[in-house]
Amino acid sequence: MIEKILVLGGKGGVGKSSISAATAVKLSDLLPEKRILLISFDMAHNLSDLLSKEIGNAITPITSNLWAIEPDANVYAEIYTKDLVNKMKTLMKQMPLVGRIPQIEEFIDTTFTTDSIPLALKNAMFFQKILDAEDKNSQEQQFDIIIADFPPTANMITLFEIPEDQVKVVLKYSLNFYNSIKDAMKNFSNMFRQILKPFNDDYEKRKELGKEIFKMMVDLEKRGERITDLIHSVGSLRLVSIAEKPSFEEVKRARDLTNKYINLDAIHINMIIPKKHAKKCDFCGQISSIQQRYLLEINKEFKNNKIWESNRLKEEPIGLDGLRKLAKEIYNDATAHEILNPLVS
Ligand SMILES: Nc1ncnc2c1ncn2[C@@H]1O[C@H](COP(=O)(O)OP(=O)(O)O)[C@@H](O)[C@H]1O
Ligand SMILES: [Mg+2]
Repeated sequence: MIEKILVLGGKGGVGKSSISAATAVKLSDLLPEKRILLISFDMAHNLSDLLSKEIGNAITPITSNLWAIEPDANVYAEIYTKDLVNKMKTLMKQMPLVGRIPQIEEFIDTTFTTDSIPLALKNAMFFQKILDAEDKNSQEQQFDIIIADFPPTANMITLFEIPEDQVKVVLKYSLNFYNSIKDAMKNFSNMFRQILKPFNDDYEKRKELGKEIFKMMVDLEKRGERITDLIHSVGSLRLVSIAEKPSFEEVKRARDLTNKYINLDAIHINMIIPKKHAKKCDFCGQISSIQQRYLLEINKEFKNNKIWESNRLKEEPIGLDGLRKLAKEIYNDATAHEILNPLVS
């Protein structure tokens, strides 16, 4: 059973992926009995770099109870499209007029492609695979805690919007397809006149296929609803910022844009220059005083949220050891419960 989905968001370069991975490793150490999955939803996957291990589009073991994946959204969309295309072809070929167009198969192949599915919908299809694991008969691996490393804010919103507006997307998708068929019909209308001969049309068979295609569309809509419900009930957003104006502004925007989709629990303020170093050079001192100002502002703005501050480490937090150091820097001695439910504790 998925108990918690942590979603990490914020501007590019502020440490989202590092904090996602560090949190995943920390929770895996604290909760050996829980199964944890770290997912990168950023197209520019970099979990492999952070974990110093090739991950890619496979659920890859990291520790005894932690796995990671950099899903290739196209793979999941392709499985869906292939099935749909086959059904469409069979249906079209049985249709009185359209079925007689010699190029109809080629036309469906080139119109109804994986490329025509919006990325967000592809991601929703991947996410469904994870949710399918919840079904008793599923062969898929089950997880208790999911940590999702999201792309920078703009793309993050499209990920949330998908489940919410699934109906519209599916309708638009099918409508585009329908319109292309209509266009093709126009082009072929002359040919129709020549080839239109009396023939038997297996109406019942077509009706069944039509139903199946419709069901595929509705299923897509249903899975969207399931994802939305799950995010509402066990989703927890954590926005990552550095103590500078552009990142602070972005985090405020992200809060406003996402609040109808997911609960904002915590803010991470990352890469703070430790005060003792600030005294060592003028340059460090100046940067540090700017940071201290934004630290106050961010704390004031997000006083109803948990704030986790983390210093800039001397070394890049890479590999399990590096990530454990970053986790220690962020969470210090916090319990798993405090990390998972920062506003309840
Ligand atoms: N607290 C930190 N101290 C030092 N380096 C950090 C810290 N947090 C992140 N980094 C480094 O900063 C860079 C950007 O981090 P990353 O997690 O990839 O950001 P994002 O996912 O937001 O783009 C990486 O090289 C990472 O190792
Ligand atoms: Mg990243």
